[in-house]
Amino acid sequence: QATGPLGPDHGYGPDIDHVLLSEEQIQGKITELAAQIAVDYAGREVLLVGVLKGAVLFMSDFARALQLPTQMEFMAVSSYGSATSSSGVVRILKDLDRDIAGKHVLVLEDIIDSGLTLSWLLKNLGSRGPASLEVCTLLRKPDAVKVDVPVRYIGFDIPNEFVVGYGLDYAERYRDLPYIATLKPEVYSS
Ligand code: XMP
Ligand code: MG
Repeated sequence: QATGPLGPDHGYGPDIDHVLLSEEQIQGKITELAAQIAVDYAGREVLLVGVLKGAVLFMSDFARALQLPTQMEFMAVSSYGSATSSSGVVRILKDLDRDIAGKHVLVLEDIIDSGLTLSWLLKNLGSRGPASLEVCTLLRKPDAVKVDVPVRYIGFDIPNEFVVGYGLDYAERYRDLPYIATLKPEVYSS
């Protein structure tokens, strides 16, 4: 098994430029977020809505860390745009399997960049009559603060670089890395 400086790298080692957030930092933050959210939602049942595919690893670790009964739903959206930036035009690829009316919905996002995708998603979910609707994102980029999207829980604010790992992909690769990293420039040109 290939092992990089931060443990198993799934063979991606040569593509990694630098690690932004280690597995330990990510898991530590999830423990923190889960503790806060357990207090805020005490006595309530939470419906977690994960945004596919990026939020799958986050959802999996977060649901286990949160000491509350939760249910899980997934939604897949595609924002028209290039591989590394979004346009705000969103299409539903997979909708929720259930009605969320009257539910306490917590949307789990991997990353908010321009905020356009999330802004659209909140409008869409908000129109379905949830009892409450909040967002928990693992990562947020600086551009996101320019758009008025109310995000109650934020894991890390990160620089404006394209990142992969822990659910995030480039051309569908690197999602399985346990940490978050940047890629060497040559990976994008090949
Ligand atoms: P907006 O700009 O609408 O876009 O907030 C959010 C979506 O864009 C993708 N995204 C990234 N994906 N590394 C990725 O792998 C990144 O650094 C990155 N920045 C934005 C992602 O799909 C996210 O949901
Ligand atoms: Mg992607």
